[in-house]
Amino acid sequence: MLSSPIDHSEVTVVILAAGKGTRMRSQLPKVLHQIAGETLLGHVLATVERLSIPRAIAIVGHGADQVRASLPGWVETVEQREQLGTGHAVQQVVPSLSEFQGDVLILSGDVPLLSAETLSAMRQAHREAGAALTLLTTELANPTGYGRIVRESGRVKGIVEHKDATPAQREIREINAGVYLADWAKLRDAISTLSNSNAQGEYYLTDAVAKLVDAGEVVIGHVTPDSTEVSGINTRAELVALASEYQQRSATYWLSNGVTIESPATTWIGPRVSIGEDTVIEQGVALYGKTTIGEACRVGAFSRLNHTELGARVEIRQSDLEDSSVGEDTTIGPFARLRGGAALGRKVRIGNFVEVKGSRFGDGAKAAHLAYLGDATIGSKANIGAGTITCNYDGTKKHPTTIGEGAFIGSNSTLVAPLTIGDHGYTAAGSTIVSDVPDGALALGRARQVVKEGWVLQRKGITT
Ligand code: UD1
Ligand code: MG
Repeated sequence: MLSSPIDHSEVTVVILAAGKGTRMRSQLPKVLHQIAGETLLGHVLATVERLSIPRAIAIVGHGADQVRASLPGWVETVEQREQLGTGHAVQQVVPSLSEFQGDVLILSGDVPLLSAETLSAMRQAHREAGAALTLLTTELANPTGYGRIVRESGRVKGIVEHKDATPAQREIREINAGVYLADWAKLRDAISTLSNSNAQGEYYLTDAVAKLVDAGEVVIGHVTPDSTEVSGINTRAELVALASEYQQRSATYWLSNGVTIESPATTWIGPRVSIGEDTVIEQGVALYGKTTIGEACRVGAFSRLNHTELGARVEIRQSDLEDSSVGEDTTIGPFARLRGGAALGRKVRIGNFVEVKGSRFGDGAKAAHLAYLGDATIGSKANIGAGTITCNYDGTKKHPTTIGEGAFIGSNSTLVAPLTIGDHGYTAAGSTIVSDVPDGALALGRARQVVKEGWVLQRKGITT
């Protein structure tokens, strides 16, 4: 999860993501299934980001619109309308890379665990050998289904697909992981003449290997001992098996980087998450998206954080935070919900059953129980009483509420936006506040209480 020391700025990544994934039996394109809150394709992109590779092109086909919509803006896409094979897929990027000189790194969208470290080691080997093409390979006890690496006196000669392999070739345990690093100009030439006369009637990218070897180019196989890392996903059973493998690996990583993961088997930490030292993650926690957690925080059991930033020493008890940021020494929950750009300052207190949407809380402000604060700006040290509701929506539009510094909002206040309550303004408990409250003023917005002496006794006909 560290960025690599090697400079990858002259590399363009091409990600194969056009296939259907028939065996998933899903309406969703295979690469959009998730592990730890991140799509399979998102895992691959997280690795690309870690390597600081500036350009990535995803080849989309099946479910192209959905796949495109899932991608961050920096990723380009090229559509492969018919899936005629992996070689045909790479041919689709030729127009996009007409000016490009350098290496292409070809990855599969359904191989989520491949690490930046393995790819860096592969690039190192590629450079040292002065190779035109480097293949990532591994040895499998059961290589069924994979392309086999054919070597002669240790040198890579080609790849033969399982379905095209002779019985003797099927004994080969070294397989093609489907990850390639190649000099683009040379690979482009090699794939310009592919044929589809093979068992599957497809244009195989793997045939480019023998073509380059025959042309006298240097082709090497970089063997990785970690075959799990290069595993692809074809079925839901493989998805969950690889997810739990990912889970263990990410817990191991954070445990060795100063973070206590109390229950690795129930905790999910996405690939774009970062966590500061001495933070404790309790059981059943999900940390998704681009979430950043400061030092010495405690994320309580069964909390879920998505695209959220926590400063140092934040304490959260069983709460749900999304698209939010939280300042140092703030405490949240239990059972709080932050969303839609909630931004809390330092030493804020958000208590049980409080929802904060798109609102800012100044330092030391508090909403300790049962409240909804939507589209509000709350000054430092303001106190929001239990049951306070900002009525921010009139059925058509959202309206803002501003609450000044040191303001005191009485319990069960109904704040009808747009509304401004000045610094040190007070509202009486049970008020419906419809107009602005000046600095330092008290607003009462409730009917005066009426007491009818003896009313009950009279009604029940009791005389005293
Ligand atoms: C491929 C390799 C095989 C290797 C294996 C590793 C070929 C011919 N074979 O086989 O040597 O051992 O991967 O997992 O390349 N795709 C497209 N467009 C297409 C076809 C495929 O984008 O027209 C994408 C798929 O979505 C997938 C990747 O390419 O992400 C690999 O395709 P797949 O059909 O899974 O190839 P395999 O038969 O597994
Ligand atoms: Mg495959």
